[in-house]
Amino acid sequence: MKLRFNLSALLAFTALSYARKHHHHHHNETESAFEVITLEAVDASIQAQFIPFGATALAVNVLDKDGEYRDILLGYDEPTRYTNDSNYFGPIVGRYANRIRNGTFTIPISKNAEGPNPFEVVKNEHDGVNTLHGGEVGYNERPWTILNRDNHTVTFALFDSDGFQGFPGDVVSAVTYTLEENSVFKMSIRAIASNSTPIMMSGHHLWNLEGYKETQDLDGHIVQFNSSHFIATDGILIPTGELIPVEGTPMDFNEPRSIGEGIPETEGSEVCGTGCIGYDNCWVYDENNSTEPAFSMWSINSGIRMDVTTNQPALQIYSCNGIKGDIPIPRKASQGGPDTFYENFSCLVIEQQSWIDAINNPEFGIDQIYGPDRAYNWEATYAFSIFEDGSG
Ligand SMILES: *[C@@H]1O[C@H](CO)[C@@H](O)[C@H](O)[C@H]1NC(C)=O
Ligand SMILES: *[C@@H]1O[C@H](CO)[C@@H](O)[C@H](O)[C@H]1NC(C)=O
Ligand SMILES: *[C@@H]1O[C@H](CO)[C@@H](O)[C@H](O)[C@H]1NC(C)=O
Ligand SMILES: *[C@@H]1O[C@H](CO)[C@@H](O)[C@H](O)[C@H]1NC(C)=O
Ligand SMILES: *[C@@H]1O[C@H](CO)[C@@H](O)[C@H](O)[C@H]1NC(C)=O
Ligand SMILES: *[C@@H]1O[C@H](CO)[C@@H](O)[C@H](O)[C@H]1NC(C)=O
Ligand SMILES: *[C@@H]1O[C@H](CO)[C@@H](O)[C@H](O)[C@H]1NC(C)=O
Ligand SMILES: *[C@@H]1O[C@H](CO)[C@@H](O)[C@H](O)[C@H]1NC(C)=O
Repeated sequence: MKLRFNLSALLAFTALSYARKHHHHHHNETESAFEVITLEAVDASIQAQFIPFGATALAVNVLDKDGEYRDILLGYDEPTRYTNDSNYFGPIVGRYANRIRNGTFTIPISKNAEGPNPFEVVKNEHDGVNTLHGGEVGYNERPWTILNRDNHTVTFALFDSDGFQGFPGDVVSAVTYTLEENSVFKMSIRAIASNSTPIMMSGHHLWNLEGYKETQDLDGHIVQFNSSHFIATDGILIPTGELIPVEGTPMDFNEPRSIGEGIPETEGSEVCGTGCIGYDNCWVYDENNSTEPAFSMWSINSGIRMDVTTNQPALQIYSCNGIKGDIPIPRKASQGGPDTFYENFSCLVIEQQSWIDAINNPEFGIDQIYGPDRAYNWEATYAFSIFEDGSG
């Protein structure tokens, strides 16, 4: 409890001193959650925008093969639109990303929460069957506080109180975005809890490395990462506890391959759920915490390449299978909107994260329970460059 007091006091103090320093921006707390923060690297090789609401990334501009800036991150033009975003455009997802079977878990963990000391959290998917991205009000829908900022970096913090959405223990989180020379976008997430609680966070970014300029599909997007297994899921994408080898399946990206061309190959396998075509899966990286990129992707059309280095052991990819629903989402002006829309299979969510629903699958052998004696630490570096034909 001493720890909890210290952390919340620190958070309150830093937030207060920030608010004092920037008094004129902070007359209205609700409004300030939508204050657009623009960062740029010192060499102007990358520029990005954020809002405190959800600690959300709104835009990422990098140089293409012609030396022109392109916005390669999906989003909305109107910042307040993020309050009603079932697609999770660009925020931090937490306290526990992805799905929790039946919205239940135990501490210590047990298979499908059959053990003692159960917790039940808000079930916000499939009419109350399971939890997705931390419940009805996830970290993506919370007004984070600006702790620190300059032209190249911003840190947002969030105090999540014991019992909110059903999770045990207070959690204080801080996410830092930094833009560095040579088109580097760095993210780190730190969190500490007052009591034992599951924590799994990620940055939920939807990418299109062409900024919708050349095509409306992913055929020109080439993806490579070393992974020999993905996590088996049921018809509503809840992990069963098994791993499936990728060999000989459309899930194999060990060699560079067009992900757009892989989408139709998934038909009938239902890897992304009952009746679904495309990708919405969690792969286990073959190596952890490598200093080399764990994930690479480039567009042969725009020439933009992204290499991700991370300390996370798994990767979620969603190929925007159903992004165009009954009410289509206008594209941002920077991506050809508002009279054009985000089409199905035209973008990729790439999340560096831990193994999904490991708290209901002890056989995974992953410890996702954090507390006063175990801080949470998530790191990812997204390095952008120009893909030169043949060197990819
Ligand atoms: C703060 O701003 C929001 C959004 O613009 C507005 O709805 C609300 O009424 C404002 N609150 C105050 C106290 O002015
Ligand atoms: C939220 O967005 C949906 C469209 O995606 C719209 O139908 C609904 O009216 C919006 N709700 C609010 C409260 O703005
Ligand atoms: C789902 O959770 C509820 C409430 O905690 C519990 O009563 C029920 O047994 C659980 N169902 C399954 C299938 O685990
Ligand atoms: C931030 O950028 C602005 C405008 O480009 C400039 O005036 C200011 O000196 C910069 N501040 C720092 C700390 O680099
Ligand atoms: C990577 O980390 C996971 C989870 O922490 C572990 O199960 C796995 O054995 C590790 N893989 C390697 C190659 O060390
Ligand atoms: C990951 O590597 C960094 C340095 O490369 C090291 O400090 C850290 O302890 C490693 N983390 C894990 C979980 O192995
Ligand atoms: C991926 O595999 C290749 C070929 O075996 C190897 O050179 C590279 O270091 C691996 N990358 C990582 C991040 O493990
Ligand atoms: C996009 O996918 C959703 C979900 O499968 C589907 O309902 C919708 O009809 C699709 N839209 C188009 C334009 O194909």
